[in-house]
Amino acid sequence: MTLTTKAAVLTEPGKPFEIVELDLDEPREGEVLIKYTAAGLCHSDLHLTDGDLPPRYPIVGGHEGSGVIEAVGPGVTKVKPGDHVVCSFIPNCGTCRYCSTGRQNLCDMGATILEGSMPDGSFRFHSGGKDFGAMCMLGTFSERATISQHSVVKVDDWLPLDKAVLVGCGVPSGWGTSVYAGGVRAGDTVVIYGIGGLGINAVQGAVSSGAKYVVVVDPVALKRDTAIKFGATHAFADAAEAATKVNELTWGQGADQALILVGTVDEEVVQNATAVVGKGGTVVITGLADPTKLTVHVSGTDLTLNQKTIKGSLFGSANPQYDIVKLLRLYDSGQLKLDELITQTYTLDQVNDGYQDLRDGKNIRGVILHEN
Ligand SMILES: NC(=O)c1ccc[n+]([C@@H]2O[C@H](COP(=O)([O-])OP(=O)(O)OC[C@H]3O[C@@H](n4cnc5c(N)ncnc54)[C@H](O)[C@@H]3O)[C@@H](O)[C@H]2O)c1
Ligand SMILES: [Zn+2]
Ligand SMILES: [Zn+2]
Repeated sequence: MTLTTKAAVLTEPGKPFEIVELDLDEPREGEVLIKYTAAGLCHSDLHLTDGDLPPRYPIVGGHEGSGVIEAVGPGVTKVKPGDHVVCSFIPNCGTCRYCSTGRQNLCDMGATILEGSMPDGSFRFHSGGKDFGAMCMLGTFSERATISQHSVVKVDDWLPLDKAVLVGCGVPSGWGTSVYAGGVRAGDTVVIYGIGGLGINAVQGAVSSGAKYVVVVDPVALKRDTAIKFGATHAFADAAEAATKVNELTWGQGADQALILVGTVDEEVVQNATAVVGKGGTVVITGLADPTKLTVHVSGTDLTLNQKTIKGSLFGSANPQYDIVKLLRLYDSGQLKLDELITQTYTLDQVNDGYQDLRDGKNIRGVILHEN
């Protein structure tokens, strides 16, 4: 039996999402049919349209998702129909070199997430004789999808899936940038560039790790005000003003960590971040940019003589299977904010309005609530 689903797809560069009806294959060996409840509007899907992350076309958008398992294919042991799950935008197979050494965010099964195919190169969405990919093997801008069991993490039934959805990408990627990649410790001074769906969670991570000063930089007033509500100690529209303040706060020693979570990373923000950390400091680059552009231009001698580290971080350097559950338990016990991260909700038909609001700086995170 072939299923059908309504989905938001990209068909060519520079074009917005189009809402179409697609055929959907039933789950094969190791796969599940999921009915998505909610999908977050992460900036990475905007990179698919702005040309920074050109995908294979056509592709169903969306990689932050939560939902309910409706059916399972042969050999599925991880979940059963009726289970509530949050999707991980990087699958975790559990057995590859990276999964088996506690680095599930680097799982080898993630190789095709931008192609949007299953690991064997096949697709589950189709229309008019064409195969449609699924962003990050998920395609959460669809009512339903057929995905790998390794892309889902079972979560407690009583948690609201319309809030838990954020723990599929933005929350762990931001929180983990502070806690895991940055290694923020009690008493540290942290500078965070870019307070969107990821950066605000880097603030939550830095605050929960006991940072003394959390200094944020974002040109948008709503973002700065929200960061202060989440526990940031200082907020600036301008990186130079932030650097002057950090110098004053640390008696010239500089920050311990500078975390880059801006929408599109460029040379300037990397240079500012590298200059604002002091001896032994760490710069983490989590934001994306056109992969063909060289965005790191800094003095190697500064790195050597001041023993600074610049590193990238994927999925907050977290382990999805462990950290999605852990972060939701922190939410459940009141130690992690999720409800306050959602500025606006949209229907699937309003996906382009949601991305326009993101571009206009109106949203910390927008979320699509699927209707059926
Ligand atoms: N590494 C990962 O695992 C991972 C995961 C998800 C998203 N991302 C990437 O992280 C980035 C952030 O995603 P998001 O969803 O939070 O985006 P967003 O659009 O919600 O937030 C970006 C913020 O950066 C601010 N900004 C832009 N330029 C700035 C500058 N020069 N200085 C300071 N602030 C600036 C914007 O005002 C905005 O508030 C994107 O590039 C996204 O693709 C990376
Ligand atoms: Zn994302
Ligand atoms: Zn793996």
